[in-house]
Amino acid sequence: MPCRIAIDGPAGSGKTTVAKILADKLGIYYLDTGAMYRIIGLYLDKKGVENDSDIERELSTIKLEFINGDFYINGKRVGDEIRTPYAGICASKYAKKAIVREFLTRIQQKISKNENIVVEGRDIGTVVIPDAEVKIFLVASAEERAKRRYKELLEKGVKVSYEEVLNEIILRDKQDTEREIAPLRQPDDAILIDSTKYTIEEVINKILEVVLEKCKLKLQKE
Ligand code: C5P
Repeated sequence: MPCRIAIDGPAGSGKTTVAKILADKLGIYYLDTGAMYRIIGLYLDKKGVENDSDIERELSTIKLEFINGDFYINGKRVGDEIRTPYAGICASKYAKKAIVREFLTRIQQKISKNENIVVEGRDIGTVVIPDAEVKIFLVASAEERAKRRYKELLEKGVKVSYEEVLNEIILRDKQDTEREIAPLRQPDDAILIDSTKYTIEEVINKILEVVLEKCKLKLQKE
């Protein structure tokens, strides 16, 4: 039986950091589905397409590949250009479209099928892998999430203000929870963790405890 660990939660809840470390400690794959929405969102925004038939036409020309932990769009490796607040807003805008979600969900299911993998996103435990062996829902206050994201962006050399980051988080929360298709919500059988109350290490240890109990996996790194 594979061990598929679904980690969902709002922007900046610490999902990415937690998912990456977890996958590393367990020696298994890590898939960042938000990156996929960012890549497609930026691409479609650049093309300036709005209606479904134009989006469908563009999607049919896209080859999105996941090789050794990196994404490639039509053969070109994707870098930090998808990490800006603007890319987040484009991701969230096009993530509302059923056609975009179907396109990416199909690729995500193909990548995670029968794998030991940590998959991070908004609808992993509800839509992409509803039968995941472990489901986690990670939350934190909007201010705490904005603070973390702001620090992360500054360290990467991306020029933004704290207010810009906070506003972007509030806007994305609204779009992600209120959209009709696959909205962000806690799966019924997920374990809820509020990361405002714990350090990253404590969050990881909590998840590891569940994973090691449910899956036949061994820690590869302490
Ligand atoms: O996780 P990240 O902040 O990079 O995600 C960017 C955006 O992509 C989210 O705000 C959300 O709108 C969308 N997304 C989604 N479903 C996922 C992952 C991300 O709708 N599974």
